[in-house]
Amino acid sequence: MIIAVDGPAASGKGTIARALAKHYGLPHLDTGLLYRAVALNVLRHELDPAIEADCMAASDFDDAMLNAAELRDDEIGQTASIVSAHPLVRAALLQRQRRFANQPGGAVLDGRDIATVVAPHADAKLFVQATPNVRAKRRHNELRAQGSGVSLDKVLADIRVRDQRDTHRAAAPLTLTNDAALLDTSFLSIDSAIQRAIALVEQRIANAPA
Ligand code: CDP
Repeated sequence: MIIAVDGPAASGKGTIARALAKHYGLPHLDTGLLYRAVALNVLRHELDPAIEADCMAASDFDDAMLNAAELRDDEIGQTASIVSAHPLVRAALLQRQRRFANQPGGAVLDGRDIATVVAPHADAKLFVQATPNVRAKRRHNELRAQGSGVSLDKVLADIRVRDQRDTHRAAAPLTLTNDAALLDTSFLSIDSAIQRAIALVEQRIANAPA
């Protein structure tokens, strides 16, 4: 079974995808980490994230890089959103994601274009969203827990910029497809959101054509 989980920054998609993977005993890939790895390489080599050729030069990395602690930094998230708008960068990362999705037994992937590009044939598709204010508060709490002194206003502004870029880019923009189940986590606890996600996947499987 392949489960696609898409949604904007700090919507809860990562937590939900990890919980679904655990529940169904499936491997999980956070595809945002791949774009973050390219972003980290771009910054480490003092390349320009706005230049596609620079990003291509930074898009060859080995799996060990996906464990780098800096990948979670906010600056890397912002840069990832810039590098991920380049069609050649997306193409360079696509095979890796498709191989993961199509492994025997299936997988859970979360990102922005899983339901549309990486695994359009997924058995269940969830679109996880929450209001920008709620998402900014969550991200702000995470960053403060990591010792950052960034203000809530700055986090909210960054989230709005990233939303705008991720939903309006020409290459594989974040989109809610007709065949995806919408899960708004704005007013749900983590546990309730996970239970709701499992229920939605169960519904999709039960209604799948034989
Ligand atoms: O965790 P958060 O939602 O903040 O970010 P992420 O999922 O790690 O993604 C970082 C950036 O990578 C996003 O802003 C997207 O621009 C890009 N991304 C993408 O274009 N396609 C994906 N499948 C996953 C991430």
